[in-house]
Amino acid sequence: MEKTAENILEIEGVKKHFGGIKAVNDVSFAVKYGEHLGVIGPNGAGKTTLFNLIAGTFPNDEGSIIFAGENIARKPARKRALAGISRTFQTSKLFLNLSVLENLFLALNKNQQTFKIFSSWEQDKAKIEDCYNMAKQLGLEDIFEVQVGELPHGKKRLLEIGQVLISGAKLIMLDEPAAGLPENERVKISQLVKELTEGLSLIMIDHDMDIIFDLADRVLVMDQGKILALGTPAEIRDNSEVQRIYVGGEQDDN
Ligand SMILES: Nc1ncnc2c1ncn2[C@@H]1O[C@H](COP(=O)(O)OP(=O)(O)OP(=O)(O)O)[C@@H](O)[C@H]1O
Ligand SMILES: [Mg+2]
Repeated sequence: MEKTAENILEIEGVKKHFGGIKAVNDVSFAVKYGEHLGVIGPNGAGKTTLFNLIAGTFPNDEGSIIFAGENIARKPARKRALAGISRTFQTSKLFLNLSVLENLFLALNKNQQTFKIFSSWEQDKAKIEDCYNMAKQLGLEDIFEVQVGELPHGKKRLLEIGQVLISGAKLIMLDEPAAGLPENERVKISQLVKELTEGLSLIMIDHDMDIIFDLADRVLVMDQGKILALGTPAEIRDNSEVQRIYVGGEQDDN
């Protein structure tokens, strides 16, 4: 793998085994600054595990994870978040008893190095404005003060994306952000993701190949813990190995 200062992320020989399951098995690839990398692959291919290893949800068994020039492989998740890695989860982690505003406000404050008991009204006001602007970009401004538990699934998924975007992350990782939604909503969400992450470094997992091919500069295909292919959408579309694992139709959209 070519190592250059152009890469925000360099993964080299990364492994994670759970007992006998080789969830991620000697994976190496890089993500350039500002690149949109799509990740596809069958259920159980190791996609979410790869995110967990990058975010530090649990440590990798072997290999290095270089983020912005620094090996973060042994750092706890909190330090990686502070360094600028932000991700969504395949299942929602929103605070259902809090409002859209409060969920965004917490995400905005999450990465502050020091916890400030006293923050000025002006500071809070500016932050609330930032939250409102984010809600507006996602079309959530009319429900800004609504409790999240009351929102339909699609709005919740949008809010999760908003939380990641408002955190000011350097590397954004979205794990099936539109999963479980009808086709029209999935397309709408992925269009928004595409617009709002322009120029940002993004890794996005999805089972919908059309969405990934439209969004991604390059596509990484995982199968059984390994990289089956990595290339431009056109290269991946034409790859016979990729076509082979997708025979039998689309994967579960879970
Ligand atoms: N915490 C864990 N403990 C034990 N096994 C795990 C754990 N996380 C993942 N696995 C196993 O590792 C393999 C890869 O799982 P992973 O969730 O990464 O797949 P995925 O590609 O995200 O699949 P999907 O498309 O269904 O989300 C699976 O066999 C899974 O059962
Ligand atoms: Mg997954």
